[in-house]
Amino acid sequence: MTRSLSIVVDQALAAAVRAPSPHNSQPWRFAVDRERVEVRLDRDRVLSVADPDAHEARLSCGAALLNLVVSLRFQGFEPRVRLLPDAAEPDLLAVVTHDGNHRVSVEDQTLADAVFRRHTHRRPFLDRSVPAGIRAALVRAAGGEGATLHFVDAEYVRLTALARRAEFLQAGDDAFRAESARWTRRHAASPDGVPLGAAGPPPDHEGVVALRESHLDPDLPVRAYERQPLLAVVLTPDAGPAADVRAGLAMQRVLLTATSVRVATSFLSQPFEVASTRAGITELFRPLGRPHAVLRMGYGYSAASWTGRRPAHDVVARIVDGEKRNGGG
Ligand SMILES: Cc1cc2nc3c(=O)[nH]c(=O)nc-3n(C[C@H](O)[C@H](O)[C@H](O)COP(=O)(O)O)c2cc1C
Repeated sequence: MTRSLSIVVDQALAAAVRAPSPHNSQPWRFAVDRERVEVRLDRDRVLSVADPDAHEARLSCGAALLNLVVSLRFQGFEPRVRLLPDAAEPDLLAVVTHDGNHRVSVEDQTLADAVFRRHTHRRPFLDRSVPAGIRAALVRAAGGEGATLHFVDAEYVRLTALARRAEFLQAGDDAFRAESARWTRRHAASPDGVPLGAAGPPPDHEGVVALRESHLDPDLPVRAYERQPLLAVVLTPDAGPAADVRAGLAMQRVLLTATSVRVATSFLSQPFEVASTRAGITELFRPLGRPHAVLRMGYGYSAASWTGRRPAHDVVARIVDGEKRNGGG
């Protein structure tokens, strides 16, 4: 690899690892060989209680893949992505090759800039609606990756009931609580997990769906949350591991597009993490496709607290003359 190409790839990998992941578990690995980057699922970092099928982990890898692609385009390279290229290796989620000249567009610049500004916003939103033009842009962002973004409307009551039910069941599950405790309330400098500074203030009344117990800082002053959050669901036409990665690509393009217009975002994942409520949410959205993620969107005051990331040598293996060097392989 020439030096300049290696700088390009390093920058793309630095963008990739800024992707969101449940509890900031960063369940990815990369292997780099000249103009080729492999994106792999790291099984050791899949949340075994909340995510036994690795669905959320593959979503996260899809988000990392989108960041990688966005960064390559921003640097003037044309990426070609093959999803799940090897049936014998199910954890090899994607191979990206890049060559040729890519003419950098305004959208490339906007998305690349958003990669390093996006963060999960666990604070209250204002009761101010997201304009129709922005919603349409978010729908287009998901559509561009072969997925659908659906703004929750008639399904709101049933969806939030599923979220509350899941949270109730998880609260009574010792294994879930232990897993959650392991990954949250970390020190600010922790390279993974969620630091206490990223937690939100306690709501001023019960029943707020915006925030999970484990992402709440009880020492902050109580605050009023938005009366009804704007929720959007990412869906794909089909199900399975490739659909998970595709949904992750779409989810991340939606998150970056939202960030670029100062719309803050967070996640509402509880219904996907309990078998019975997962069945419920699948059924609820069946007419529209396979649901993968529920996003909360709105306007809020952002005291961004950045979550850490593991250093590149922990997640990247260089392939030199057919052999892997460095960690992560
Ligand atoms: C699939 C998925 C599910 C997530 N679920 C939740 C959630 O239920 N609650 C929450 O507060 N954050 C959730 N997150 C956000 C992560 O905690 C967050 O991405 C991680 O801590 C890194 O922080 P950042 O997004 O600010 O970079 C989720 C992220 C992903 C990708």
